[in-house]
Amino acid sequence: MLLGLNMMSLFKRNRFRIMYYVYNYCYCHRRIFNSDSFTYFQTFLKMSHTFTKATLTNNGIKTNWDSYMSFSETIDNPTKEQVIQNMLVIENFLSEEEELSLFKEVEPYMDKLHYEFDHWDDAIHGFRETERLMWNENNMKILQKVREVAFPSGSSQLSLVHVLDLAEKGFIKPHVDSVRFCGNTITGLSLLSDSVMRLVHEKKKENIIDVLLRRRSLYIMKNCARYDFTHEILSNENSKFNNYFVHKQRRLSVICRNEPPKIL
Ligand code: OGA
Ligand code: MN
Repeated sequence: MLLGLNMMSLFKRNRFRIMYYVYNYCYCHRRIFNSDSFTYFQTFLKMSHTFTKATLTNNGIKTNWDSYMSFSETIDNPTKEQVIQNMLVIENFLSEEEELSLFKEVEPYMDKLHYEFDHWDDAIHGFRETERLMWNENNMKILQKVREVAFPSGSSQLSLVHVLDLAEKGFIKPHVDSVRFCGNTITGLSLLSDSVMRLVHEKKKENIIDVLLRRRSLYIMKNCARYDFTHEILSNENSKFNNYFVHKQRRLSVICRNEPPKIL
């Protein structure tokens, strides 16, 4: 059993090296393989190489995109790769203590507000929100860490942090954040609950990506993911990831944005 597990992890660690050897072997013996299966194998190898590269070298952050992103079959590979580069989720970005620390600071204020459900034309249903400039020292450090990871150094960021409290029955309808008020990057911490964010291509509505936002994760949505796709948080009626129901409870998000370019 133990030997089996060790072999498995040895195989996993070296899978690309092994594929490379197989590829070389096939290449040397290409006359004995029919050309279709050879081309297929070449494409597969190229794809897995690019995706691994995208996965491992994005901003120097290691993420495993297929654990949190699910693509509709209509999406072509170049688009898929673009999205992998521009929509990142870092799971367990916050420790339980850090989550509690942020929650404790915003909760007394939030608790005084009512959830808004009534406005049918609002982008968000069942929410209360605030923007916050001053944070206690501990939370300031957490937010500094978020900013360092999400934005290129020296980029101008909005100093107000947006805190959005979504009720269990709440959801966010598809929208693109205003280009007048927000630059190319939006980053958000998810507190208290898992949820599913859906990206839908504005021009090709069949191109859909579901993104699993686990509790305590940080997402970084930038460039094409931020401009070319709408984003939404699914209501519990539709909250599925890869056919698994994801029960959204009350969810707090703590969102930082950068400034739009001055020319607009
Ligand atoms: C928004 C938004 C997403 C989130 O407030 O514009 O899309 O993570 N929020 O709460
Ligand atoms: Mn938004």
